[in-house]
Amino acid sequence: MTILVTGGAGFIGSNFVLDWLASPEYGDEPVVNLDALTYAGNLENLKSLQGDARHVFVKGDICDRALIDRLLAEHQPRALVHFAAESHVDRSISGPGAFMRTNVEGTFTLLEAARAYWGAMAEQAKAAFRFHHVSTDEVYGSLKADDPPFAETNPYEPNSPYSASKAASDHLVRAWHHTYGMPVLTTNCSNNYGPYHFPEKLIPLMIVNALAGKPLPVYGDGQQIRDWLYVKDHASAIRAVLAGGRVGEVYNVGGWNEMANIDIVKTVCALLDELRPSADGPYARLITYVKDRPGHDRRYAIDARKIERELGWRPAETFATGIRKTVQWYLDNPEWVSHVQSGSYRDWVSQQYGS
Ligand code: NAD
Ligand code: TYD
Repeated sequence: MTILVTGGAGFIGSNFVLDWLASPEYGDEPVVNLDALTYAGNLENLKSLQGDARHVFVKGDICDRALIDRLLAEHQPRALVHFAAESHVDRSISGPGAFMRTNVEGTFTLLEAARAYWGAMAEQAKAAFRFHHVSTDEVYGSLKADDPPFAETNPYEPNSPYSASKAASDHLVRAWHHTYGMPVLTTNCSNNYGPYHFPEKLIPLMIVNALAGKPLPVYGDGQQIRDWLYVKDHASAIRAVLAGGRVGEVYNVGGWNEMANIDIVKTVCALLDELRPSADGPYARLITYVKDRPGHDRRYAIDARKIERELGWRPAETFATGIRKTVQWYLDNPEWVSHVQSGSYRDWVSQQYGS
């Protein structure tokens, strides 16, 4: 058996592939990894799999129907796990086009290719096939301070071009199940953090900037709240849903860990003060409040009771353990950071924050 993963050279996808192949349950099951290697795709994340026959990397676009048809026919996967996306809210504000193309048209293309492939499968394999769509809590919009966390039944109220494009893709997946009976699963997860996180997102940006003695840009008043989940817990949630999730269902995945951005930044600074103290004084001296993101969602929080009730999944890491591992990983992998920074990442940072 084989699975086809899209976007497996990105942050969450690469963690998922590495954990899949390292796991006792799935380690024998090869992964075909289709990724376009945009600025966010980094084969260095998968360096440890070089020469490993269980990992077949294919550079290509999820909008390329002929390529997907060929991969499905050639590898006969029992599941498709779809991570590939444009994923950064700030980029979606300055250039939404790529988000519509990859997140909407790309998901549509995959669904159509998977529908043709699944439709032609033999009965037993057909019943076992799954299309697992990886999505975000941002589709539900923004919560007020005393609102209950997002449940699977919350209405969709996406506010950014990114979340609107992910919401559109979720709707396509839902419709392909409802109309064609496609065996789909959707997970909507909160903010992830951990190894291989591209340093345009909050936590890795703060770590690499602090180490470089650069300002730590906090948007607006820094009181926006996110519900942070260690990336390996997201990977285990996807494995659990893929194995036991009910077809056509949505599962919210979160860390039961709501924190304001400014407290995240202060936690990162305190850990760096402990693990790599600076001669210039505490890293919190670098905290700089900057102009807020347009349309900035105030609060996200996930009610993850359904996945726990039905599948027994709970995060293994607390924020305290996960963030310590994460900061340590960045300290232990300066080469990964410097390679990322020498690429197009640099252009993006100067465009976003000025040189
Ligand atoms: P990422 O930006 O780090 O990685 C995306 C990957 O997709 C990259 O490797 C990129 O090369 C690839 N890709 C982009 N366009 C492609 C295309 N047209 N064809 C093929 N490959 C393409 O993103 P991530 O943070 O790893 O997120 C993965 C998925 O999880 C996304 O669908 C995202 O919406 C979802 N998600 C992310 C978070 C988070 O906190 N990062 C939280 C919940 C859900
Ligand atoms: P981000 O990592 O971009 O994830 P998302 O927008 O998908 O939640 O941002 C997390 C939070 O951190 C969000 O409220 C925006 C904020 N933020 C900053 O304050 N400064 C920054 O430099 C970045 C990248 C994000």
